[in-house]
Amino acid sequence: MEFVKGKGQVKAEIVVNGAKKFEEYGFNGKDGEILVLPEKKKIYVGIEKIDSENLKTATSQIIRSLKKYKFESVEITPINTKNEDLLESFFMGFILGDYEFDKYKSEKAKHPIKKIAINSKRNFEEIIKKAVIKANAINFVRDIVNSMPDEMTPARVAAIAEDLAKENNLECRVYDENYLLENGYNAFYSVAKASAHPPRLVHLAYKPKNAKKRVILVGKGLCYDSGGLSLKPSDYMVTMKSDKSGAITALGIIKAVSELGIDIEVHAILGLAENMIGGNAYKPDDVLKAKNGKTIEVRNTDAEGRLVLADCLCYAQENIKDIDYIFDLATLTGACVVGLGEYTAGVMGFNKDIIDKILEAGNDRGEHFAYLPFNKYLPKLLKSNVADICNIASSRYGGALTAGLFLSEFIEKENKEKWVHLDIAGPAFVEKEWGYNPFGASGFGVDSLVKLIEGLK
Ligand code: BES
Ligand code: ZN
Ligand code: ZN
Repeated sequence: MEFVKGKGQVKAEIVVNGAKKFEEYGFNGKDGEILVLPEKKKIYVGIEKIDSENLKTATSQIIRSLKKYKFESVEITPINTKNEDLLESFFMGFILGDYEFDKYKSEKAKHPIKKIAINSKRNFEEIIKKAVIKANAINFVRDIVNSMPDEMTPARVAAIAEDLAKENNLECRVYDENYLLENGYNAFYSVAKASAHPPRLVHLAYKPKNAKKRVILVGKGLCYDSGGLSLKPSDYMVTMKSDKSGAITALGIIKAVSELGIDIEVHAILGLAENMIGGNAYKPDDVLKAKNGKTIEVRNTDAEGRLVLADCLCYAQENIKDIDYIFDLATLTGACVVGLGEYTAGVMGFNKDIIDKILEAGNDRGEHFAYLPFNKYLPKLLKSNVADICNIASSRYGGALTAGLFLSEFIEKENKEKWVHLDIAGPAFVEKEWGYNPFGASGFGVDSLVKLIEGLK
């Protein structure tokens, strides 16, 4: 698909706030409503309010509808605005809407629309370039997360990271299970121990000249989460290939940031492992020593993400000096999905200014984030009788917050105010399509975090 100037076979139009109604067809221009008139070669899509999310949804709907009619090109006039967020979203929607995951289907998806003809005198070249980079990074994340666990093992993801590093001129180091074992990453190692597919810790770095800030992204990369010995019920296990979303999102962000040439140094630390059962599986009652020396009582092997992340956070802080920001991304808790629903990520941390920046970036880019505040009563819920800390809370409430607080125990004092935890368990994987997201992996978070990083000065 490419964006060109000129005319197309069909004309598409975004109808804002019911400006046009076609009562004979029952079209009122409500959000996401679509009207295709093939004989007139016209397509209309309604949006009630102009914002990034609605624009992405509108243009993705245009592509989805026109695919059915096998048109090869569509003509459209971009919305009349100078706001770059809105324009980028307008262009991104076409690429996001064209995405279909057909890797394992005998009959491959068809992509009949080859040309998006832009009917305008304005020059959109720069904006289109950025929109294409970002949308491709999102589809890149979707493809990897959607791939089945037997294929997308920790070693395979590490190989993809190495390929990306070669293509985009990134530094890349890959550490295997022996490194983890020999260097005291006992929490990470233990989670991965029972799997036939050994773990990998991947460290990618994008280091532009004259970088203004140094940002660390730490991603939970559970290529499969069966729950381990605290085995998940079958219904809950399905979709757990998506438990690697945090790590893959970090990969997507560093891909986009490097391709956009943003002058911020970005490190992506991926904790890749499988949480499986077996004779040598780690067990409830085990006590694990993390890299920073803290001991952890395991009471539930399904709270594995925080164990992997604990060691990855230690790795980052030991190996990267003068950190300005450290963000972790993880499909960490079902509690976050219960609390906020499937469309919203939870944001936790000690620095409300950075958290506000994330909420704002989400607003600008059409992704939903909500702040979950810690308080002084929560830490005692993680007390252990046998170790420094327990991997699950003693209360059945507030699971997203206690998981976040667990992670905070592995943040050095000087970095506490630089750290933010993002629980993306809800929006990372789509079980029923919504907005511009088809079924499956969404690539949630790439767009907002790239925007946030771009704005760090
Ligand atoms: N990967 C899951 C969290 C999850 C649940 C992600 C649903 C996406 C959708 C995580 O490892 C997990 O199992 N967490 C447990 C923690 C509990 C044992 C304290 C949970 O949320 O139930
Ligand atoms: Zn789990
Ligand atoms: Zn998990």
